[in-house]
Amino acid sequence: MKIISVNSIKGGTGKTTLSILFINALTKAGYRCLVIDADASNNSLSAYLTDGEISQKKSVFDLFLGASVEECNIEINKNLDLIRGDVRLNEFRSTDSLKRLKRTLQGLDYDYVIIDTSPTYDNIIGNVLTASDILLIPVQQDIFSFQAVKYQFEKLVDLELDKLDIHIIFNQFEKPLTDNQDAYRNQITNMFLNDEAFNAFINPCRISRSSVFRKFINKQNYQLSDKAETRKAYEEVKALIKSVLNIKIKERI
Ligand SMILES: Nc1ncnc2c1ncn2[C@@H]1O[C@H](COP(=O)(O)OP(=O)(O)OP(=O)(O)O)[C@@H](O)[C@H]1O
Ligand SMILES: [Mg+2]
Repeated sequence: MKIISVNSIKGGTGKTTLSILFINALTKAGYRCLVIDADASNNSLSAYLTDGEISQKKSVFDLFLGASVEECNIEINKNLDLIRGDVRLNEFRSTDSLKRLKRTLQGLDYDYVIIDTSPTYDNIIGNVLTASDILLIPVQQDIFSFQAVKYQFEKLVDLELDKLDIHIIFNQFEKPLTDNQDAYRNQITNMFLNDEAFNAFINPCRISRSSVFRKFINKQNYQLSDKAETRKAYEEVKALIKSVLNIKIKERI
C-alpha cells in the first residue's frame, strides 16, 4: 500500500483536480483505493464523489480522533472508498501529535490511499505528510506559487521526512507565447528549475491548462481517452502516473 498526499500552500493550484485524476485512473485500472478528504476548509472532493449527498458515516474528524477506517469509509464503487471531509477537522490544526493519522492508516488493505488537503501549513498537514509515502505538490507559473513552495520546503526540513518521495508538478501549465526568456511565465518557470533547494524534485511531466480538465471534473461520464479532444490530456495524465508510480495506465480515465 502506498499513501499519496496532495498538498500545496497556495490555493487553487489543482490539488483536488489531481486527486480526482489519480483516483479515476487507478480505480479504473483495477487498483483498490481509499481517498481521504482532509481539506478542513472545503469539501469539494467529497462533494464530487458523493454528488453532494450527506452520509451518516463517520468522517475524517473521527478518523483523527482514533475511529477505524471501517467506521468511516463510504463505498463509492467496488474499487473506491471515501472518508468524507468535515469542518471540525479544524480542531486539529494545532494538535500536539503528528502521528495520529499514520497510526490509523497502518496495515490497511488498499493498493493506494490518496489524501486531498487544504492550502495551508498546519498540524493537519503535518499529520498527513507524516503518514505519506509520496507527496504531490501542484504548482502554477506565478510568483506566489514559487514562494509557497520555497516556504513549504523550509517546513518540510523541520518534519525530517527523509523517505517522503516528493513531486513538484506544473499544473495549468502554459507554454510562453514567445521564446523570449524574459516572458513572465518563462521567468517563473526558470526560477523553479534553478532553485537549488527543490529543483531536484520537479517532475518533468506537466499538466497543461485545458478546458478538458474542467469538463472532466464538472461533467459526469466525460472520460479521458486517446480519442479526439481528450487525447493530449489523457497522455499527460498517463505519463505523470507512470512517472510517479511506475504504473502503465491502459484504460480510459
Ligand atoms: N490543468 C487544468 N486546466 C484547467 N483548469 C484547471 C486545471 N487544473 C485545475 N483547474 C481548475 O482550477 C480551479 C482550481 O482547481 P482545484 O480545485 O483542483 O484546485 P485546489 O488546489 O484543489 O484548490 P483549493 O486550494 O481551493 O483546494 C478549478 O476551477 C479547476 O477546474
Ligand atoms: Mg481543493
